[in-house]
Amino acid sequence: MKKTAHIIVFGNEKGGSGKSTTAMHTAIGLLRLGYRVGTIDLDARQGTLTRYLKKRFDYITRNHEHLPSPAHMAIERSMQESVSNQQFEEESFLMMALDELNHVCDFIIVDTPGTDTFLSRLAHSFADTLITPMNDSFIDLDLLADIHMKNYDVLGPSIYSKMVNEARVKKKMRDGSGMDWIVMRNRVTPLNTNNNKIIAGLLDQISELAGFRLAPGFGERVVFKELFLKGLTLLDLKEEQDGGLTMSQITARQEVRNLIVTIKPELAKGYATPTDAKKQA
Ligand SMILES: Nc1ncnc2c1ncn2[C@@H]1O[C@H](COP(=O)(O)OP(=O)(O)OP(=O)(O)O)[C@@H](O)[C@H]1O
Ligand SMILES: [Mg+2]
Repeated sequence: MKKTAHIIVFGNEKGGSGKSTTAMHTAIGLLRLGYRVGTIDLDARQGTLTRYLKKRFDYITRNHEHLPSPAHMAIERSMQESVSNQQFEEESFLMMALDELNHVCDFIIVDTPGTDTFLSRLAHSFADTLITPMNDSFIDLDLLADIHMKNYDVLGPSIYSKMVNEARVKKKMRDGSGMDWIVMRNRVTPLNTNNNKIIAGLLDQISELAGFRLAPGFGERVVFKELFLKGLTLLDLKEEQDGGLTMSQITARQEVRNLIVTIKPELAKGYATPTDAKKQA
């Protein structure tokens, strides 16, 4: 297969850090810029992204409203008896999904589960861009680096960073290209606590050691939960509807746009049509 689509994987071995929410917002953001987007849910058991999109399709049917939506595929865990057969089947399904979407998409967004699985590891090794949302906690930081808990020295990469590094090596050997790893803080509270400051400082240090860029993150906002229930994203909300947007919604939408700017889609795929790009700006 000649690979032409740019693959963006959302990963973090920590559950509930915001992978599916961010994956959905990135998919819709890229669609609204005029790019063709496909999505793959590797967490089919929980199926958050799949359910999010189902709610979107229900919304479209109910309201007869056009909303840009990705071509979507969900990959189930294999039920084969032996581990080698399971892995063979899962790898075949992922390759088929990537191949199919590769022909019709500029970007393929892959959402992974919050645990270390064979499929998740494999998907990481295909990531042209890897986005890792993390919460402001030492538990989340601990997956990226070993940190001395008394003097906050960064001692070395830890479990997730090592896995990403292995995926990078595998990718380089397969197609000769690198991986752009972006870590973003999610559910950041406006309080400038000592904890927040320590975590921000540590992330700066770890980024050099582990080889990632830091993206401006998303704040803690109830609107994400409300939007999930409707199948909508912040990028679907319109100023002229429902009495206008709240300040919090406008800020949140800007945060999503900032993430998409950080991904630099134009470097991967060139500019989308100028009219679409203007709408997003
Ligand atoms: N910035 C945010 N503010 C408030 N709530 C958020 C934010 N980001 C995500 N959430 C909520 O946190 C919960 C977990 O988010 P999400 O499902 O995206 O995480 P995940 O990393 O995909 O989880 P899992 O590892 O279980 O797949 C959801 O209820 C979601 O609505
Ligand atoms: Mg998820």
